Amino acid sequence: MPVPKKNKLVGLDIGSHSIKLVEIDDTKKGMVLKNFGIIGLPKDAVVEGTVREMEVVASALKNLYKNLKIKNKNVAIAISGFSVIVKKINIAKREEAELEASIHDEAEQYIPFDISDVNLDYEILSGKEEISEIRDGEESDEESVMDVMLVAAKKDIIEEYVSLIHLAGLNPVLVDVDAFAVQNAFEMSMKDVSGCYALVNIGAEELGINAVKDGVSIFTRDSAYGGSQITEAIMSEFDVSFEEAENIKLGGAKVDDKKEVLEEIFTTVVSGWVQEIKRALDFLSTTYPDESIEKIILSGGACRLPGFKKFLQMETDIPVMELKPFADLQINEKVFDPRYLSYMAPQAAVAVGLALRSIDDK
Ligand SMILES: Nc1ncnc2c1ncn2[C@@H]1O[C@H](COP(=O)(O)OP(=O)(O)OP(=O)(O)O)[C@@H](O)[C@H]1O
Ligand SMILES: [Mg+2]
Repeated sequence: MPVPKKNKLVGLDIGSHSIKLVEIDDTKKGMVLKNFGIIGLPKDAVVEGTVREMEVVASALKNLYKNLKIKNKNVAIAISGFSVIVKKINIAKREEAELEASIHDEAEQYIPFDISDVNLDYEILSGKEEISEIRDGEESDEESVMDVMLVAAKKDIIEEYVSLIHLAGLNPVLVDVDAFAVQNAFEMSMKDVSGCYALVNIGAEELGINAVKDGVSIFTRDSAYGGSQITEAIMSEFDVSFEEAENIKLGGAKVDDKKEVLEEIFTTVVSGWVQEIKRALDFLSTTYPDESIEKIILSGGACRLPGFKKFLQMETDIPVMELKPFADLQINEKVFDPRYLSYMAPQAAVAVGLALRSIDDK
């Protein structure tokens, strides 16, 4: 049985639409959902992964903490895929210490901005286990290279989020990338991660795709698509405010005479999402001709748009599912309404992935 992790972190997903907070307790009897909350942000406080209104976002964060009566100030946050570059590179095989020493020089040619402006991280994907073999004997060209996943995150964006967390009186312990936090939640929810899956997170302003093979990310892409496209189209077609448009989108306001206009907006935007996902899948099948995607796993608030899942499944011919990040947590039904949690589940994926981490994690 796994040892419960102490020093858990509060998972904070600061998106452009809302902040999602998850707190998980790791107990001897398993993982328990301790807290979950969401607070909306005004339009343009966070734009495509950058914080425009520090004070506004920090005070929303403080309110969320106060409302939920959270004590733990140590938090894990994620920056968006827009602020990172994830790239798989092929380099000559070497020992880990040697790799550590040379990764900056190697990375320079792959990163489109100044290397001193990024925080660099990496993961060896393949080729590691054969290092001792090549030392002893002959080697073919193919065996003398290794695959390394480079993750370069813009320092100024990390600093921006860190200042935001400080401004809210909290302590940022860990900074992840939203796509990897989703992957973390996905791995917890799967008994067996073997095979290829496309994790697709559709929020308000970001559509992120992360293809994972046997638990390792092999491809990521982020584009400026999401639920806000619909809200903005409604604002201009119906001549209403942002709040009213959100309400119309979620079915909370009657639009009898303009039903067709609304459906047209949905169809146009959703087609764009599906095309974007199909382009990524096409790229994957060209790059990895032997792999086939088992499932498309959806997260993010916008994936709930009526009809979207069916349409995506029809267009890709791949089973489409919603990520259920609460499924493996113990839930006290006196505290949390199971129907509410099940509705919120896809939108909570990033925050759950972050809340699974603890201080001792790197
Ligand atoms: N039932 C629903 N139908 C359609 N859209 C929905 C529904 N519920 C939420 N949304 C939309 O989902 C979006 C919010 O999702 P999410 O919380 O994942 O975004 P975010 O993380 O704040 O944004 P991002 O990561 O893109 O910056 C909003 O555009 C919201 O209108
Ligand atoms: Mg998001």
